[in-house]
Amino acid sequence: MDKLRIHGGRPLNGSIAVSGAKNAALPLLAATLLAPGTHTLRNVPDLRDTRTMLKLLQIMGAAWERDGGTVRVDSSRLTGAEAPYDLVKTMRASVLVLGPLLARAGQARVSLPGGCAIGARPIDYHLKGFEALGVVTEMAGGYVEARVQGELRGGTICFDIPSVTATENVLMAAARAKGKTVIQNAAKEPEVGNLIDMLEAMGVRIEGKDSDCLTVTGAAELRPAEISIIPDRIEAGTYLIAAGAAGGSLEVTNCDPSHLTALIEKLRAAGMQIETQADRCTAFCPVNSEGQPCPLRAVNITTMPYPGFPTDLQAQFMALMSRSSGVSIIHETIFENRFMHVAELRRLGAEIAIDGGSAVVTGIPHERLVGAPVMATDLRASASLVVAGLAASGTTEISRIYHLERGYERMAEKLRKVGAAIEQVPED
Ligand code: EPU
Repeated sequence: MDKLRIHGGRPLNGSIAVSGAKNAALPLLAATLLAPGTHTLRNVPDLRDTRTMLKLLQIMGAAWERDGGTVRVDSSRLTGAEAPYDLVKTMRASVLVLGPLLARAGQARVSLPGGCAIGARPIDYHLKGFEALGVVTEMAGGYVEARVQGELRGGTICFDIPSVTATENVLMAAARAKGKTVIQNAAKEPEVGNLIDMLEAMGVRIEGKDSDCLTVTGAAELRPAEISIIPDRIEAGTYLIAAGAAGGSLEVTNCDPSHLTALIEKLRAAGMQIETQADRCTAFCPVNSEGQPCPLRAVNITTMPYPGFPTDLQAQFMALMSRSSGVSIIHETIFENRFMHVAELRRLGAEIAIDGGSAVVTGIPHERLVGAPVMATDLRASASLVVAGLAASGTTEISRIYHLERGYERMAEKLRKVGAAIEQVPED
């Protein structure tokens, strides 16, 4: 197993290109199970999670090949409809094969994901949605066993709160259901929009894209799709935040700034200058009259479903605020346990108090943020430790970086190119 070693305190200058979005690639890969034939997906990031999804597709009988960022999946012949515990325990998003398998094979058996480092994360909304389409579900031996009774037929479902993967799962099942399905209080994340584009390319009619009410008219026959994965807004946001923490001026290319509005507003409020063009953002950190970096202002954030501030950037933003010039309040409203990074950030000297779902971050001068050995606990927590390590003086060593490899393509290499002293070394 490897760890990351960062010698902090160096500004980031130059340009980083963002990869395709993990959280779009996963549902779009799962959607290839819906229609027989060869689907072509471009801009697919090569990550631990996308490899896990490809392994799952292979277990179902699909064949695939990768050529750079292009992945072709041939799902002409499906031989299985089961997602085993061994894979689901490494990636909760495996549950995304449920919808397409029900639509294509009429049944599916998927291991129930357990709790995870950021919260309990049940899948009751997914199951409730399938039931509205005529699916019977039961739990047995740690697995969800789902079966279509008769045929899939359109229905109406209203989620208690918007759920990204539940919206995607129900969209995929509804794609082949007879009649219309209405999803109310649907998630509006851009990754859901990317899936809608793919389903439309397959021959499904969907009204309401980018809104919280989606109407799907299923089609009995679907054709294979050719589609590009949208840029990863969380990866882009992580690098903009890293620039704020380390200083310098950083251009982030191959991204869609319109997906980053909530973050950009907060970075500007903190004192960073952010310039946007159609496919890129450039971040400039504030400097004083002698050209020396100035601390950022403290700003508060509350995580919300899209277009609100994303929970997937909360940990990184907290690392940034740990060296601001004031007190920042961070409310986490999506996941109940997404503060695992706090104890690790404190090891670097950050002053953070937790009160229920809120964290109070008291900014400290940069010389008091000092590198230390820390441990990654989940994907975005790991990214926050990289941000803090880049800002801290001295050496930070981050162990268990397999979490990071789930969602960031070649992160150390990309950061090295813009001036960071970061290397991947074997753990002792
Ligand atoms: N929820 C339920 N029941 C359900 C489904 C969700 O109670 O059946 C609750 C969750 O516990 C949570 C809230 O609804 O409190 C919203 O969670 P959501 O279902 O939207 O999360 P998700 O679909 O499981 C996706 C991303 C996460 C991201 C969240 C929120 C993928 C593969 N995962 O998860 O990404 O944090 O949406 O935006 O799309 C990450 O990339 O690091 C990551 C965790």
